[in-house]
Amino acid sequence: MANMETAEFETDLSLFKYDNLEQLPPRYRDLEENERTERIEAALADLGDDVVILGHNYQRREIVEHADFIGDSYQLSKQAAEADAEYVIFGGVTFMAESADIITDDDQSVILPSMEASCPMAGMAEALQVDSAWAEITAAAPDADIIPITYMNSYADLKAFCASQGGLVCTSSNAHKAFEYAFDKGDKVLFLPDKHLGENTAHQLGMEDEIAQWDPWDPESKDAGEVAESDIILWDGYCQVHERFRVEHIEQVREDNPDAKVIVHPECRREVVEAADKAGSTATICETIAEADPGDTWAIGTEVHLTNHLQRWHPEVSVVPLCGDACMDCNAMRQIDPNYLTWVLEELACGREHNVIEVAPEEKELAGVALDRMLEI
Ligand code: 13P
Ligand code: SF4
Repeated sequence: MANMETAEFETDLSLFKYDNLEQLPPRYRDLEENERTERIEAALADLGDDVVILGHNYQRREIVEHADFIGDSYQLSKQAAEADAEYVIFGGVTFMAESADIITDDDQSVILPSMEASCPMAGMAEALQVDSAWAEITAAAPDADIIPITYMNSYADLKAFCASQGGLVCTSSNAHKAFEYAFDKGDKVLFLPDKHLGENTAHQLGMEDEIAQWDPWDPESKDAGEVAESDIILWDGYCQVHERFRVEHIEQVREDNPDAKVIVHPECRREVVEAADKAGSTATICETIAEADPGDTWAIGTEVHLTNHLQRWHPEVSVVPLCGDACMDCNAMRQIDPNYLTWVLEELACGREHNVIEVAPEEKELAGVALDRMLEI
């Protein structure tokens, strides 16, 4: 992997940020579920309090069933910060495990069972690219104080960059508070990498007329001076899963079931969020279904594993996927295979660590500042 230098940080232009990525040994590839479950439980009994398993809401059933905590990326980062265990096993994607490593103590290790679990959206804003866009935009608005905010779905080097420029991190549940923080400190916001979350947040704050977009892949399309006139500059990144939801899916669900209500994740397009009854982070989606009355119908516009969990966890509510049979499956989250979980746990029980996520020390401190700012807002 090529290492390239930005003004202050090192980054590599690869989907996989770590070169200690290890593949699953062949002997773990064809385990049956029963055997696997027994072996996971045996390893966990051996490891006791040395291990905590965190599972994002989008993880497969066979992962969340073994998780000590299940939640959205904000809740899991708080759980990581509070964990005492020597090993935090992260059922999620690379940027989440990186955040856990930044927040946990130096004597704790964070393990991402499969290091191929890399969110494509996080890869859409490389620190190197952002650094050069920043130089252009700030030069075009020399008198403005621009505050960069990065969505949690970004790598540690970008979080560090934001902190170094007075900015912070946010998740889908506190993006509006991060914007308020930024406008309190400065004049403009550069929001990375998710343009849809940025646009939905601008609407929430009544600032929808203040938006411009920065497309880092199409240098011809943008005029830094023009973009810098807007108060909210959105990086042109998006989630490949949530972008696929359409207003037609909502119309179809309402036609099939006129009583159905619709809740979607704010990574969905603006028109989808507008057409839905409610929008919120995966934690908000879980709370909404937990509080629904028996017999209610809710259609869910997010990654399909969460919809399936909610069907299982709340059989009294009719929970349906917003796109019917079209599978809105996150390929990054799916890389955390239960066979990988078996492998890393059995190896840990024998004293061997695999797929440890270790953020470089020079990024860790600054990225920690950006995360601390978020935890304080
Ligand atoms: P949450 O922060 O809502 O858990 O979402 C994370 C994510 O990756 C959504 O695609
Ligand atoms: Fe990334 Fe989208 Fe998958 Fe979330 S659902 S981890 S944003 S690709």
